[in-house]
Amino acid sequence: MDSPIKICCIGAGYVGGPTMAMIAKQCPDVEVHVVDLNQSRIDQWNSDELPIYEPGLDEVVREARGRNLTFSSRIEAAIQHANMIFIAVNTPTKSFGIGVGRAANLEFIEKCARQIAECSTGHKIVVEKSTLPVRTAEAVKRILNSSANGATFDVLSNPEFLAEGTAVQDLLYPDRVLIGGESQEAINRLAQVYGRWIPKDRILTTNLWSSELSKLAANAFLAQRVSSINAISALCEATGADVDEVAKAIGTDSRIGPKFLKSSVGFGGSCFQKDILNLVYLCENFGLHEVAQYWEQVVIMNDYQKRRFSERIVSTMFNTVSDKKIAIWGFAFKKDTNDTRESAAIHVCHNLLEERARLVIYDPRVHESKIRSDLKMAFSDVNGVLSDKHKQLIETNVTVVQDAYVAAKEAHAIAVLTEWDEFKQVDAKRVFDGMRRPAFIFDGRNIVDRSKLTQQGFEVHCIGRS
Ligand code: UDX
Ligand code: ADP
Repeated sequence: MDSPIKICCIGAGYVGGPTMAMIAKQCPDVEVHVVDLNQSRIDQWNSDELPIYEPGLDEVVREARGRNLTFSSRIEAAIQHANMIFIAVNTPTKSFGIGVGRAANLEFIEKCARQIAECSTGHKIVVEKSTLPVRTAEAVKRILNSSANGATFDVLSNPEFLAEGTAVQDLLYPDRVLIGGESQEAINRLAQVYGRWIPKDRILTTNLWSSELSKLAANAFLAQRVSSINAISALCEATGADVDEVAKAIGTDSRIGPKFLKSSVGFGGSCFQKDILNLVYLCENFGLHEVAQYWEQVVIMNDYQKRRFSERIVSTMFNTVSDKKIAIWGFAFKKDTNDTRESAAIHVCHNLLEERARLVIYDPRVHESKIRSDLKMAFSDVNGVLSDKHKQLIETNVTVVQDAYVAAKEAHAIAVLTEWDEFKQVDAKRVFDGMRRPAFIFDGRNIVDRSKLTQQGFEVHCIGRS
């Protein structure tokens, strides 16, 4: 009989935390230890205020924590104790050296692999959860096989497809689980874990490289749809067509389908841009320049969309926003998350601050400290240095408040940058009464009731409508 599965997950972030909590919830007899270098993150996972906001996650963690789910910074001990080790550390885009701005920085993955090699004995299954360039498993295997303790390893690729904001539902009812590997026995062991709550026909197994590439390709395809509809939105604004009507018309074609056709101020999040740039870098490495250019255009279009939105605000407001108060509704990269990585809001705020606008920012879930540090980062140079001038600009021109109405008070304009539900339900009269005239709304998510707000007296500008 197989020995009981004992899991260690290195990395307690947006991927490792929720995924392991779900495994622990669904498999009460499987020990799950989540470890991270970052002690304050671990402390938060052990507290009532989890480090990430995700609907339904509190309940999942509460059910399993202390039973078969633990969070700690004792990485070595957790590796030694486990027979299945997930690597769920971050793989940001490189900010230095070869492949800067494109390739994934694999430093954290390599450090994990070395640490696993150093402190393991016996046989372990190592599972890549982080999104990685194709053939990273090769490097991981080589490092692991250099273990001086005689330990042996099977390496699996098991990319995570959850989307933030819907992580719990995505983990409970995934479209599929993908497991890539060379050892059928190791694949079966991992499939056994997911098989506790996911139907067998949704657990796909492939070779290692297909699994690694499928994750990059899936994100590239999703991002491509957003950039495609955003490209059409620019044409709609020029021609008088309405992008939501066009999206509906094309999305009802069953071959195209309705999902991921919501035009917006631009996609954000930790994955799309990073993974496409990673794909582009990979293609270039293999001499596939046309393929690289094809995918790079998805990111170029996204940058254009963010810039275009900022420029539209400035040009509509009589070509100047200098010293004008603009309420920013939403800072997270999408609703139902406190994550701001690559959020379009950062870019739009940066552009508006360069024009010397005064911003009053409200987001229901993002802390003021995070908003300020993101803006400082946006104004920093390649070495991470923030000039005194920009520091001063952020200090004097940015206010963060806890209420959408307060943000809009005496504002010349509102820019809706995240599609939080509460922005759909605001009291239009109350907002309008507090604002200066003309009262502009720039809806970067096409969520407000345009006709109601127009009737109220607002001048409403949406994406993809002239
Ligand atoms: C994405 C993938 O969906 C997920 O499978 C993968 O595991 C991680 O990357 P995530 O980035 O969390 O998930 O969120 P997602 O819902 O994909 O949204 C990404 C961005 O695209 C957001 O900024 C969102 O607002 C934007 N978007 C999405 C649109 O602008 N329009 C759409 O129609 C859909
Ligand atoms: P993701 O969205 O991919 O989950 P996050 O940045 O949210 O990315 O989480 C990754 C986590 O991995 C961070 O909390 C970071 O501290 C942790 N981490 C990175 N390198 C290591 C390492 N070598 N050992 C343990 N934890 C690590």
